[in-house]
Amino acid sequence: MQRLTFIQPDDWHLHVRDGDHMISVIAATARCFARAVIMPNLKPPVTTVSQALAYRERICNILAPDTSFTPLMTLYLTEHTTPNDIIQAKASGEIVAIKYYPAGATTHSEFGVTDLRKVWHTLEAMQLYDVPLLIHGEVVADSIDIFDKERIFIEQILDPLRAEFPELRIVLEHITTQEAVEYVALANDKLAATITAHHLAMNRNDLFKNGIRPHHYCLPVLKRESHRQALLQAATSGNPKFFLGTDSAPHAVHTKEAACGCAGMYTAPLAIELYAEIFEAYHALDKLEGFASFYGADFYRLPRNTNTITLMKKTWQVPDTLTFGTTQVIPLRAGENMSWQLA
Ligand code: DOR
Ligand code: ZN
Repeated sequence: MQRLTFIQPDDWHLHVRDGDHMISVIAATARCFARAVIMPNLKPPVTTVSQALAYRERICNILAPDTSFTPLMTLYLTEHTTPNDIIQAKASGEIVAIKYYPAGATTHSEFGVTDLRKVWHTLEAMQLYDVPLLIHGEVVADSIDIFDKERIFIEQILDPLRAEFPELRIVLEHITTQEAVEYVALANDKLAATITAHHLAMNRNDLFKNGIRPHHYCLPVLKRESHRQALLQAATSGNPKFFLGTDSAPHAVHTKEAACGCAGMYTAPLAIELYAEIFEAYHALDKLEGFASFYGADFYRLPRNTNTITLMKKTWQVPDTLTFGTTQVIPLRAGENMSWQLA
């Protein structure tokens, strides 16, 4: 296949940061995705509707006039988020979901929730007003092995949560394990999951190939090959519970290449091309459109896009570095060739 035309995709999980950093990265997403769910883990986090609307305006103000890109905003769930915040979020018409970071689980999660019982009434309101919960699904305890944190989160937090709130719509974000795939596949249609390109493309060996690879470090951390195979199977299965979320998460190069490097891979400049490469290698290019362009919109109950994008079989090289505010960011696959190019 030399050309692939399909309905324009959306990115259901994206970090664009703010200020000068955002100016540097937003076009990489807007060039091919129609919409993206914008993560609220700024510093300070986006916790109120007015903050989210102001953030949305900052994003829209820097988009080139001819781009039709829609940021879909989220609020950061803290222990102070109230049922009234949920009512306001629903009424705004601009907030598509609430993001739950277990406190301490990942980048800028320190304002997250230590115990969901502290926000029980808020979760009740989310269920009542049908506002989806997006979950970073990892337990925090240092006593738990990092490779087990997702599985144990599902057992100890997600499964009881779903039992208490059977009508709450939930997206388990950036799943990385066979256990997550199986759990989501077996659940009812209130539960879905996003899958990143990097977790489909790499396993944990890629963290340590000929030395330590800070640009392959993200959270949840890459897992062993059998888990990657389970993710590939899920993403290419045509099961609408699994859809695209890049979790593209840019960090300045000096904060990645450091004694204690930040978690996150910057994939937006090559995201749809990388998904295409992965689906092609798995002989499943015919499943890309559903995964990238239909199932997420259906879950969020938003209209599917109607215009198309075209990918061509054409080699291009990912830049070594890209501008990131006053610093640089190194994208995934920096300096390497990609086989699909956006027309
Ligand atoms: O690798 C990650 N980076 N995982 C997250 O959960 C957060 C993200 C970020 O914001 O950098
Ligand atoms: Zn994320």
